[in-house]
Amino acid sequence: MVPSDTLTITDNRTNRTYTLPIEDGTIRSMDLRQIRTSNDDFGIMAYDPAFTNTASCRSSVTFIDGERGILEYRGYPIEVLAEHCTFLEVAYLLLFGELPNEAELNTWIYEITHHSMLHESTRKFMEGFRYDAHPMSMLVSTVAALSAVYPQAKDVQNPANRLHQVKRLIGKMPTIAAMSYRHGVGFPYVYPDNDLSYTENFMNMLWRMVEPKYAANPVLARALDILFILHADHEQNCSTNAMRSVGSSLADPYLCVAAAAAALAGPLHGGANEQVLKMLDEIGSKENIPAYVRRVKEGHGKLMGFGHRVYKNYDPRAKIIKWTAEQVFRVTGRNPKLDIALELENIALQDDYFVSRKLYPNVDFYSGIIYQAMGFKPEMFTVLFAIPRTVGWLAQWQEMLTDTEQKIARPRQIYTGHRTRRFLPMQERETAGVVKK
Ligand code: ACO
Repeated sequence: MVPSDTLTITDNRTNRTYTLPIEDGTIRSMDLRQIRTSNDDFGIMAYDPAFTNTASCRSSVTFIDGERGILEYRGYPIEVLAEHCTFLEVAYLLLFGELPNEAELNTWIYEITHHSMLHESTRKFMEGFRYDAHPMSMLVSTVAALSAVYPQAKDVQNPANRLHQVKRLIGKMPTIAAMSYRHGVGFPYVYPDNDLSYTENFMNMLWRMVEPKYAANPVLARALDILFILHADHEQNCSTNAMRSVGSSLADPYLCVAAAAAALAGPLHGGANEQVLKMLDEIGSKENIPAYVRRVKEGHGKLMGFGHRVYKNYDPRAKIIKWTAEQVFRVTGRNPKLDIALELENIALQDDYFVSRKLYPNVDFYSGIIYQAMGFKPEMFTVLFAIPRTVGWLAQWQEMLTDTEQKIARPRQIYTGHRTRRFLPMQERETAGVVKK
């Protein structure tokens, strides 16, 4: 009798039958390799461009149920964490698996706070960028450059050394982000203030002018903290996959985070929040929404901030962001783009095109509107995403390095090119017509 938790496959080329174990709702791709037509046949592979149905790891960091719109970090619902925790508390949870007690949290805050300074050579490195450099380009390059400042970080198999770099990265990300902002507006850099909380200090480094001590608006500081919690991790997304993939070669964490941040920068991922604001600017007013939606449905562009690979329901983070927006607007005044966004959401969620494809607003749809009301330029939005996501990247990186099943990430391909061609000397080659003048 065949065990029930198995998959039976019949290869109709050979009429042979194979029984593969099913574990956690998956079969192992390597089990397919035994399915061969002859001894010199390579065996069957799974073809999955863009990894739409491939689990690349086991992870206990973040759980998502995309059909039901559930997001949990280490088993705690995102709504509960956003309501009751600070960002650094959630960072501790993501990295170590448990919520800290008071003493553990205080030590953790102290350690992160005391890793927020940059080496002066890094500040000078940042000064070298052009005045109009995109802050995300500055962030990616500067994080990569930290690899040169901390060469001992290459010892990635040493847990104590890893933790040291984790603290440095979490501590320094806001400093780099703030410097990239001040560079763009031509203001002198502001050094960290250790008396302030993580988000208050970030605001201090962004916005302090001549006042001797920066006092952050508590509502805005809390809103930023909540936004950081919501963005801290999201299981195997594009940038986390980059982090794990680069990390699997045992590159140091600065290079890995730079690679992950580079993946985040793209408009289909973390760069979408910047694109949402551009889209709302382009729409201009509520009357123009139906025509804009029509154009999207005809295949001219996408509704930025809509749709998700995993969520086929309302993104739970978007709900919390909507609530946070109301708190922020009480301080800053209402961002007029909110009305366009709400109407756009309303129209899209009643339209069969979006309903049938299960396209709902994602985290990026409303975050940019809040950030803009707080005074950030759209170019900064993805940088604001990268600061908290660094925690998720590092938690996933640690998990990958300590997972005995993981090896260097190295997918297979289906080769579609020529085979073993005769080499032509230059004088025998005809115009290939590939390069256009
Ligand atoms: N606007 C219009 N149509 C869309 C949108 C959108 N935003 N998103 C998906 N679709 C359509 C696709 O054209 C496709 O239609 P089809 O079946 O007729 O071909 C269908 O919905 C399925 O979409 P896919 O592209 O197959 O979905 P995928 O999982 O590959 O893409 C993604 C997910 C990249 C997020 C996509 O929805 C998108 O580009 N959204 C806009 C960009 C965005 O907001 N990105 C942020 C995501 S959240 C994050 O990364 C933090």
